[in-house]
Amino acid sequence: MEMLEALRLQWEWGADEALADLPIDRLAAPTLRAATPTEMSAATPAAPRQRPKPATPGLTDAKHLAQACQTLDQLAETMRGFTGCALSVTATQLVFADGAADAKLIIIGEAPGAEEDRAGRPFVGPAGQLLDKMLASIGLDRTAVRIINTVPWRPPGNRAPTENEITLCLPFLHRQIALIAPRGLLALGAVAAKALLPREAGSGIRRLRGSWKQAEIDGLSAPLPCLPSYHPAYLLRTPAAKADAWRDLLALRYWLNNL
Ligand code: URA
Repeated sequence: MEMLEALRLQWEWGADEALADLPIDRLAAPTLRAATPTEMSAATPAAPRQRPKPATPGLTDAKHLAQACQTLDQLAETMRGFTGCALSVTATQLVFADGAADAKLIIIGEAPGAEEDRAGRPFVGPAGQLLDKMLASIGLDRTAVRIINTVPWRPPGNRAPTENEITLCLPFLHRQIALIAPRGLLALGAVAAKALLPREAGSGIRRLRGSWKQAEIDGLSAPLPCLPSYHPAYLLRTPAAKADAWRDLLALRYWLNNL
């Protein structure tokens, strides 16, 4: 029973991925034993110095790496090789994007869930199915837009990405937007809205949603119109919010019609 409780606790903390066949007890004391005479005589007087471990890339590296990418393929490749965000270790794979590379509208979600992590495509689970219906209701589909996430790796246990993870991934998000150079952005949920509109970070999504703001994107000379709205996962949990989401979709359709 105790074991079961301990397992449940780990699950609640988000440790829901097995990374190795056997658990490692990092709290256990290292086992020491005396060297045998043969081992003693074989030992070299000056053991070669261990090479320092390569430093984990940080925000500055992420910015340089992202800026150096001139195409979306290069960006995807660079992100696949980026080890600075710990989520890339626990996730199955990078979830780069879906939809058109020359889309006029980019839709930005929060982070991949379990289905997206398996499929390597954003918004393919229940929230994605609702997003497809929302797009269809205003005459759009996935091929007409670009769909990406603020953070491109699944956080374990579907927890929210941390501020640090969001900040580390931001240069890649900006670079993808700059390479596509759309006419506008739809930010789904508080995480995407705050990442793209840092000046509005003090306002909740309920206040932000429904009015167009200006998003400053690195590499683009002019700010992009950005409409914050509710995340489809929130709408699945809170059907009463769908009326407001419908208003936002109509505002989006109106804006698209007038491009
Ligand atoms: N929620 C998101 O924000 N993004 C996805 O890709 C799936 C669910």
